[in-house]
Amino acid sequence: MGYVAELNTGNKMPVIGLGTGAPAYQYEEIKAAVGVALQVGYRHFDTASYYGSEGALGAALTEAFQRGDVKREEVFVTTKLWDDEHDDPPAAITKSLKNLQLEYVDLYLIHWPLRLRKGYTLPPKEEDFLPLDIKSTWQGMEKCFELGLTKAIGLSNFSCKKIEDLLNYAKIPPATNQVELHPMWQQKKLRDYCRKMKIQVCAWSPLGAPKTPWGSNVVMDNPVIKEIAQKHGKSTAQVVLRWGIDQGVCALPKSFNKGRITENFQVFDWCLTAEDHEKMSKLEQRKILRGEDLVNSTTSPYRTIEELWDGEI
Ligand code: A2P
Repeated sequence: MGYVAELNTGNKMPVIGLGTGAPAYQYEEIKAAVGVALQVGYRHFDTASYYGSEGALGAALTEAFQRGDVKREEVFVTTKLWDDEHDDPPAAITKSLKNLQLEYVDLYLIHWPLRLRKGYTLPPKEEDFLPLDIKSTWQGMEKCFELGLTKAIGLSNFSCKKIEDLLNYAKIPPATNQVELHPMWQQKKLRDYCRKMKIQVCAWSPLGAPKTPWGSNVVMDNPVIKEIAQKHGKSTAQVVLRWGIDQGVCALPKSFNKGRITENFQVFDWCLTAEDHEKMSKLEQRKILRGEDLVNSTTSPYRTIEELWDGEI
């Protein structure tokens, strides 16, 4: 299973997980990818009600459990509360569990610090934003934990400031914060803060999401990273993922391709050097998914992207 990170709940999370968020939802493709990933050794799977991949992931896991390839307690499954589900997290997780054919997930996250009305369309329009009440959403998340529907609860796309606010009233502190993180958006301040607060950071789009509408090739095409990869006889993706692991981050690379799923897991039996890390620490920083669509001057809780990220952009 490779390395694991210990969460503040005492539960263990494998540091590489398979991401399942993709631009086009392909049931059979996702199911097959999960099957391959299980064979390769992945024991951590990341989905979200928004991705539409819960059903395919659940079907692949159910088959693997039935075949006896793996036991439920050997896999770590994360899903997320979508922006139009804040009013009732227990109802939302119950629906997700049904899709996943599971009795519990290992981690349930607030996907974004944002609330949209049912029936919204993306990008959200003025009338789609609802007033945000993270305290009440978090109480709903705590209820999911208390009901045994999830082994841990956490956040996604939260800044240090938003976590700090939440920690003032949380009865159960978040176990993780899942954010965009890769060598071109290293998030040092957030990583330091989360380490101090015993919150595990997880990286979505750890490769910068090449070939997707929301991503970019800047990470995979970076000449410094490519040169380091060449020196080690590894792929650019492997260097990027190894870099993340060395920062103490869990990474969730998405691939539905057998060769790349395999490659992304072969990051445990070799290391980067101090010199490689030094070079990578100097890469120019720019967040890829900045969230321009999530701000407006009237109805969004955020007037600007600086407000959305509390200046951490
Ligand atoms: P594919 O599914 O065809 O492999 P991220 O995890 O940062 O969101 O990036 C996902 C994107 O990166 C997908 O387009 C995926 O395509 C591609 N990808 C995943 N692994 C690799 C890899 N090892 N090398 C190149 N591209 C990859």
